Amino acid sequence: MARLEHMNNRIAVVPGSFDPPTLGHLDVIRRAASLYDQLHVVVVHNPGKEAMLPIAHRLTLLQESIADAGIPGDVVVASWSVGLLVDYATDVGAGVLVKGIRSQVDVAYETPMAIVNRHLAHVETVFLLPDPAHALVSSSLVRQVAALGGDVSPFVPSPVARFLDTGARES
Ligand code: PNS
Repeated sequence: MARLEHMNNRIAVVPGSFDPPTLGHLDVIRRAASLYDQLHVVVVHNPGKEAMLPIAHRLTLLQESIADAGIPGDVVVASWSVGLLVDYATDVGAGVLVKGIRSQVDVAYETPMAIVNRHLAHVETVFLLPDPAHALVSSSLVRQVAALGGDVSPFVPSPVARFLDTGARES
């Protein structure tokens, strides 16, 4: 508890694989940006998932998508691959991680991570509910549709749709 008092809880981190960023991610980023003074959107390598895009591409696509959506506020986009996510949060003075929750499956996936992160560094996790319109969108579905040549534009921000469409035509 003592650590929390020294942390700035007006700074939050939205972590994720963002492979690729979806409209659901952007919705959570927009909501979180309105709740905190500064938001760090952090691309983290998830060793449990086979990546489609290199981290540098995900970073660029997130930056372009946040700008394209006109999300106001102090939003920093970064990547983190050198250790625990809570180390990044502590380094930037964030006391909160923000995650989007679409379903009970997400609750089951996120709860142990939230407890571990709180245990590791007294960093709290705040769950936000996205717009129901995005409740069924996931990066893994987008990866599958893109790999099979389908139209992903209803599920992802325009910069991501353009990037995946161009990539598909060039490969
Ligand atoms: O978008 P994802 O793949 O669901 O994001 C999961 C992610 C990357 C946020 C999660 O795997 C994570 O926090 N990784 C960082 C490594 C870490 O700190 N692990 C220990 C506590 S869970």
